[in-house]
Amino acid sequence: MRLNVFILFIFSFISPGSGNGFAFASYYGNHMVLQRAPERAVVWGYSQKGAEVEILLLGPNSKQVNSTPVINGIWKMTLGPVPAGGPYNLSAVEKGSYGASIMFSDIMFGDVWLCGGQSNMAFTLSQVFNASDELEDALKFTDVRVFQAALEQSGKELTDLTRVDVPWSRPMPEILGGKPFTHFSAVCWLFGRYLYKTLQYPIGLVESSWGGTPVEAWSSPRALHVCGLGASVSRSVWNNSVLWNAMIHPLLNMTIKGAIFYQGEANAQYHQAKYSCTFPALIDDWRLAFHEGSVGQTAWDFPFGFVQLCTYQKSKVDGFPEIRWHQTADYGFVPNERMKKTFMAVAMDLPDRDSPWGSIHPRDKQEVAFRLVLGARAVAYEEKGVSFQGPYPSSVQNINETFLNITFNQLVKVTISYDIFEICCSKEKKPCDTGSKWLPAPMIKQGSHYILIFTGLCPMDNVWGLRYAWRDWPCAFKSCPVYSADGLLPAPPFTWNRWY
Ligand SMILES: *[C@@H]1O[C@H](CO)[C@@H](O)[C@H](O)[C@H]1NC(C)=O
Ligand SMILES: *[C@@H]1O[C@H](CO)[C@@H](O)[C@H](O)[C@H]1NC(C)=O
Ligand SMILES: *[C@@H]1O[C@H](CO)[C@@H](O)[C@H](O)[C@H]1NC(C)=O
Ligand SMILES: *[C@@H]1O[C@H](CO)[C@@H](O)[C@H](O)[C@H]1NC(C)=O
Ligand SMILES: *[C@@H]1O[C@H](CO)[C@@H](O)[C@H](O)[C@H]1NC(C)=O
Ligand SMILES: *[C@@H]1O[C@H](CO)[C@@H](O)[C@H](O)[C@H]1NC(C)=O
Repeated sequence: MRLNVFILFIFSFISPGSGNGFAFASYYGNHMVLQRAPERAVVWGYSQKGAEVEILLLGPNSKQVNSTPVINGIWKMTLGPVPAGGPYNLSAVEKGSYGASIMFSDIMFGDVWLCGGQSNMAFTLSQVFNASDELEDALKFTDVRVFQAALEQSGKELTDLTRVDVPWSRPMPEILGGKPFTHFSAVCWLFGRYLYKTLQYPIGLVESSWGGTPVEAWSSPRALHVCGLGASVSRSVWNNSVLWNAMIHPLLNMTIKGAIFYQGEANAQYHQAKYSCTFPALIDDWRLAFHEGSVGQTAWDFPFGFVQLCTYQKSKVDGFPEIRWHQTADYGFVPNERMKKTFMAVAMDLPDRDSPWGSIHPRDKQEVAFRLVLGARAVAYEEKGVSFQGPYPSSVQNINETFLNITFNQLVKVTISYDIFEICCSKEKKPCDTGSKWLPAPMIKQGSHYILIFTGLCPMDNVWGLRYAWRDWPCAFKSCPVYSADGLLPAPPFTWNRWY
């Protein structure tokens, strides 16, 4: 049955002008999850002959019949709000002499999350630590459903996906445990499964990701323009907007709850300085575009979670600290003034030198997803009392000529380190950057919420900056010097100028 429907999708897309072109858009099908109330799901498709299409939704908590006109070969319908649950059947009937009809079954209503990014999002469940246990465990979560767009690029904005890699499916080993970097995303799956454990209602996961791709490829020309980057229309994965055009734009008409994103490695050496503009601009633009495409159903400020870069090369300068910082719009933490309703999983303490797929592809995606879900619970679901941010300094004071007192905004669990903090030492009063002279500032003493560091290598009057964990590979696995008191959440890296 799934196969038949899939063939119909392809057929309808390849030849939308043919006499038989009655279909749903490529990303609707059996086993799908549609966005639950209070939002309303949007469904759309093609019809060449009928002037009107009747949509029937039948299931435990809702019976709906609605009609919608066909305009220029396309019909589009906003369903009434449906509470979480299922299963439902959804039918579309072409009114008129032909009377063709399509029915999808085993449809659930729940929260739909979009998962985007590059290879660490594409990294499959079969590649993670304990992969066989995870794959077996996945089968129990029949209400977490997955869908994946195929890798495509385009020089212009497409209305529908050209191809589907995984049609909507219940979890199955062959779908979650495909060849490396195919399907299905481990971070996306684990995020959905952990979320399900909290929410106890269906979760739909839509993966649209491609390894080795820069943020510019996922950005619309409108978003790039904000950051002074011009549009281009050629066909390389590194080119502006090509993945936005083919793998995101087609999805805009679907109602979603939120998105998670794992990307940035490809920008460590490419438009790196622009990333503090391009990444927040992508979030703004996706929010606006999904809101418009879903006729206002997807929230204009939908929650957006992301993974701060993990590690790649020990003792090399490779741009990762800068990208980690830019991922927060240079605030160091999220949400912040510039990036509202966002949440971040810090991952710099999850290095994996022995990963069979190279150290840039660390295998502990469980921890990444766990941290993301804490953020989602706090930010997207507004659950009270969920801590999701590691400690961040609230003040830095000099105690005397040789000691700084760094006070954190929460209780900390500290392991003494002699070089994780660095001070910028300069005779000239000017902003510090990567090129400045940075000296180690050993941690000397700790309190429940503060750390004293020794700055004696530089006269206090010449200390202009302070930074923490500012290198590609700052600590060993789960062993950074500063965590939340419960030991779960690492302090994110930061860099501070004293007077600017
Ligand atoms: C959905 O359709 C299937 C047959 O295709 C039927 O067995 C089932 O009862 C229907 N469910 C509802 C809620 O109508
Ligand atoms: C963009 O595409 C053009 C033409 O295919 C190619 O020459 C150029 O290198 C691409 N840009 C990047 C950044 O790859
Ligand atoms: C989907 O949304 C986009 C963006 O708003 C719009 O351009 C496009 O026409 C919509 N497609 C359909 C079928 O309504
Ligand atoms: C893998 O399984 C072992 C044994 O159950 C467990 O201790 C470890 O935390 C698991 N690793 C991950 C990344 O989940
Ligand atoms: C500076 O303060 C620290 C911490 O209170 C103390 O251990 C140290 O002796 C002080 N140094 C001087 C020169 O007063
Ligand atoms: C450091 O600052 C915090 C408050 O900002 C204070 O409670 C603590 O006593 C200070 N530590 C020292 C050694 O001065």
